[in-house]
Amino acid sequence: MTATPLMIVVLAAGKGTRMNSDLPKVLHAVAGLPLLGHVLALAGEAAANSIAVVVGPGMDNVRNAAQKMAPVAEVFTQTEQLGTADAVKAALPAIRNHHGDVIVLYADTPLIEVATITHLRRALDTGAAVAVLGFEAEDPAGYGRLLTSADGELVAIREHKDANFAELHVRMCNSGVMAFRVDDLAGVLERIGNRNANGEYYLTDAVEIIRGDGGRAAVVRCRESEVLGINSRAELAQAEAIFQRRRRREALAAGVTLIAPETVWFSYDTKLGRDVAIQPNVYFGPGVVVEDGVEILANCHIEGARIGKNARIGPFARLRPGAALGTDVHVGNFVEVKNVTMGAGAKANHLSYLGDGSVGAKANIGAGTIFCNYDGFFKHKTVVGEEAFVGSNSALVAPVTIGDGAFVGSGSVITKDVAPGSLALERSSQEERQGWAEKFRIMMRKKKAAAGKS
Ligand code: UD1
Ligand code: CA
Repeated sequence: MTATPLMIVVLAAGKGTRMNSDLPKVLHAVAGLPLLGHVLALAGEAAANSIAVVVGPGMDNVRNAAQKMAPVAEVFTQTEQLGTADAVKAALPAIRNHHGDVIVLYADTPLIEVATITHLRRALDTGAAVAVLGFEAEDPAGYGRLLTSADGELVAIREHKDANFAELHVRMCNSGVMAFRVDDLAGVLERIGNRNANGEYYLTDAVEIIRGDGGRAAVVRCRESEVLGINSRAELAQAEAIFQRRRRREALAAGVTLIAPETVWFSYDTKLGRDVAIQPNVYFGPGVVVEDGVEILANCHIEGARIGKNARIGPFARLRPGAALGTDVHVGNFVEVKNVTMGAGAKANHLSYLGDGSVGAKANIGAGTIFCNYDGFFKHKTVVGEEAFVGSNSALVAPVTIGDGAFVGSGSVITKDVAPGSLALERSSQEERQGWAEKFRIMMRKKKAAAGKS
């Protein structure tokens, strides 16, 4: 990698009206992370020395999200949307302080890979003053066309609305990503005018200006799917599909078994160990870590959870934020775990709600056990000790502690702490009347016969 310092400018001032949303476009998520977050993550992976984000007026939520996701980022406001060159100009205070490469990215283009950034920088390293990321468009309508000379050098970028008939036939398009190594990018930006069909200041005009100064312009190519820009909910779904395909391929290559990869949905940050096996229809929300050898059976919903080595989850389990499962834990069908730590070898195999508390190593939670964690006002903790046994259909009313090795009789409603090693039972004692059933039948048959006669 080049030693030249890198600055990344992220343009996010567009309103994104076609999303038809109250939420700014760049805060819509792909794989659980806002579009802007994907671009900031790329800037991080590319080891950018500084990051500038350009937002529109009143976009405080975008500003705050940018600062939260990338605390080093400086955020600038573009007061009026006068075009991409004007947007980059909003970041001039940062650009003037920077000496090195400057790469402009769009916040609504979330799928660019770090290798592509490396290719752009290599073009700068080998003498280009400006490098443009281009792609062969299936349908070039609306895109800026990359016009090249007979020897294949980039000469200019022509916006669709300004293109003549011949230029409209060019299929090589501008992705919007441009990399600069010029001594005076600020000066180049100042020289860009707005005499075009849109009356906008086009960043793409920098190519002709830099060439006029004797600089060379290069094109770096990538696949169209990598530079998909999001303008609508349909494109958002398309980006999600591309992201998921990529992530599934990565998981398979890293030693994860997916029986039906197309039915498993990952979050941007899902971490999977080796020899993890995942059955169909599993959904990962943000913040999940799965250690080696874990088996996740079909139809599970998992977010904010850590799953220890060789644990077995599902089918039909739900792990919510704060579920921290140790080695060899079993969480079975229709079990919901939220904000509960389960020690090694603990089991909750059927039909339970475990919320707010802890389950000790090798404890067994019987079918239908409920941690009654909420009294309508506050949440309380349930603590189940190591090797404790909670009988089926028990309600543990928090705050409550079941001691190590204790037993809770099936069907109990436990409201008081249970000492280690004790048996706690809370239910009426069973009575039995011998011979009762036969007497009852005889009496009832007589009644029925009498009723039939009248
Ligand atoms: C731009 C390119 C075009 C390219 C296309 C790829 C220019 C002049 N044109 O066109 O060559 O093929 O992207 O999608 O650069 N933005 C601002 N402030 C502004 C204007 C835009 O922040 O004043 C941001 C938008 O939020 C967006 C990006 O810049 O993220 C691109 O703007 P947009 O208006 O969509 O450019 P296009 O006309 O699509
Ligand atoms: Ca666009």
